Order: sequence, then structure tokens, then C-alpha cells
Amino acid sequence: MPEVENNRQTHADVAPLFTERWSTRAFSSEPLTDDEIAKLFEASRWAPSSGNSQPWMVVYETDGPDRATFDSVLRPGNQKWAPSAPLLGYFFAKNNRPDGSPLGSSQFDTGSAWMSLAMQATMMGLHAHAMGGIEKDAVYEKLGVSSDEYTVICAFVVGHRGDVSALEEDLQARDKPNDRDPVSEHVTKGVVG
Ligand SMILES: Cc1cc2nc3c(=O)[nH]c(=O)nc-3n(C[C@H](O)[C@H](O)[C@H](O)COP(=O)(O)O)c2cc1C
Repeated sequence: MPEVENNRQTHADVAPLFTERWSTRAFSSEPLTDDEIAKLFEASRWAPSSGNSQPWMVVYETDGPDRATFDSVLRPGNQKWAPSAPLLGYFFAKNNRPDGSPLGSSQFDTGSAWMSLAMQATMMGLHAHAMGGIEKDAVYEKLGVSSDEYTVICAFVVGHRGDVSALEEDLQARDKPNDRDPVSEHVTKGVVG
């Protein structure tokens, strides 16, 4: 994997994995092995969920016959780079329990499953990149998923980092680890007032 300068500074001593994970757009076409793919989805399998409902569903394709269909429901900005990655998937969240009552936290739980996958990818020296830029109306029909049963959350790609010079110039400049707000902008101790 080509090296990139990572200047992320933590304000407390956390596992390096948290700052080592970042979302490149420069993917090599090197395929993932079956073992690597199994590990990614095994990691997401162990994500926590409300009542252990495990309300996520992933559909993915590598270089198989459906890959063009999977690529086709990305928004144009993501189509510029994501088709290079060897695995493209979509996370869906289940809408209802078997009794028809809504699964209120299924989108949150699906986010946990995504993050587990992304962290596992990082531990394996791979990159995972989520994308909300998808053609949400077309996704259900093209991928054969019922919108009554599921809500699409995001697409994602996983692969090895590739040659950044293959990206358009504006994307090349942005292809590096970004920063974060201080914790105090997002976390309050005690009541907010
Ligand atoms: C739900 C979600 C949707 C995103 N949508 C896109 C997208 O459509 N296109 C894109 O290039 N990046 C997308 N991103 C990547 C974010 O821009 C990125 O995670 C954020 O800037 C933080 O950078 P990092 O992941 O490198 O730490 C998305 C990330 C998430 C979690």
C-alpha cells in the first residue's frame, strides 16, 4: 500500500487504529481473497444491536457479473473512483420486526456493523470507504431489495490503496487523512444548558 502522511493528532491516548483508518479514493484493482472478505463480514457480524436484532443486510459484488449494476447506482461523483475498488457493497437496515412493529434503532445498529467492517479492514491493511452518494430510488430495484423491508444506508468499497495519480486532480489533493473537531464540540458532561 503506498504510504501517505498521517498527521492526525489525538488528544488522549487511544488505539492507533482509530487514526489509521481513513477513507481513500485511490484503490488498486488487486482482488481481495475469499479469506479477507470472510473476515470483513465476520467483524460486522459481531456488532452490537438493539435486542441483538442484527437488523443489517449487506449485498456486495466483486468482479462478478453484477458489478456493473452495483457501480451504476452510485452517484456520478463516486462513479469517478469507486469502480476501481475490488469490492463494492451496500448496507441496508431492516425496517420492521416480524410482528410489523418498527425497528427504531436499526439504522444506528447498521452503522455499528459498518464501522466494525471498516476497522477490520484497517487492521488488515486495507481501506474501506462509505458512500452516501447513491441513487437511493434506483438501488432497491437494481439490487433486488424490497424497500418495504429495508432502507438503504450507504454503499461502501474495500480494497488496497492504489495509485493516487490515477484520480482526478481535485481528488488527488484530498486523498489524505483529514482532521476532527475537538471532543468538546460534540460531548457535554451534565445537562446542556
Ligand atoms: C454515511 C457516510 C457517507 C459518506 N458518503 C461519501 C460519499 O458519497 N462520497 C465520498 O467520497 N465519501 C463519502 N463518505 C466519506 C466521508 O467523507 C469521510 O468518512 C469523512 O470525510 C471522514 O474522513 P475519513 O473517513 O477519511 O476519516 C461518507 C462517509 C459516511 C460515513
